[in-house]
Amino acid sequence: MKTTKSKSTSAAQGVEESALKELFIDELKDILWAEKHLMKALPKMAKGATSEELRGCIEQHLTETENQVTRLERVFESIGQKATGKKCEAMAGLVEEGQSIMEDTEKGSLTRDAGIISASQKIEHYEIASYGTLKTLAGVLGFSEAASLLEETLIEEKNADVLLTKIAEGFVNESAKAEQK
Ligand SMILES: [Fe+2]
Repeated sequence: MKTTKSKSTSAAQGVEESALKELFIDELKDILWAEKHLMKALPKMAKGATSEELRGCIEQHLTETENQVTRLERVFESIGQKATGKKCEAMAGLVEEGQSIMEDTEKGSLTRDAGIISASQKIEHYEIASYGTLKTLAGVLGFSEAASLLEETLIEEKNADVLLTKIAEGFVNESAKAEQK
């Protein structure tokens, strides 16, 4: 009864599915480049931080980021794709913003830490959005191994964001309030 219709529907689904897979791979390349770029920027941010707490948090996230790159390589492998990156303009811009915050704030001040936290949280939120989408797309496309690997990273990014909020609200913002220009 619906042979012709179902044929054309499944053909259309096939096309849609491969376009979605292409989008998924493209987004993977974007975040791989982003993570590698961040790996280079994080040591500078850690070095620029004033408080031990923030420096420790960034250093811990650097180790996590290195693992996340390895995890992404496993995601590529699990879907039979070569792990290559593609420039992510958003991450390039976010990192640049972080660098200018360090130039614009006093070395040794907690205002600088407030600025570094702000830049870091913008980065985390970009990553949370990216990994959330990637995890969902992996699920839709039936890449279950990729989906669980992406979920692991998504959890780490969310935790990093929570930790940054704790540091900001714990003492950084309050102490920075008293600092003069
Ligand atoms: Fe990350």
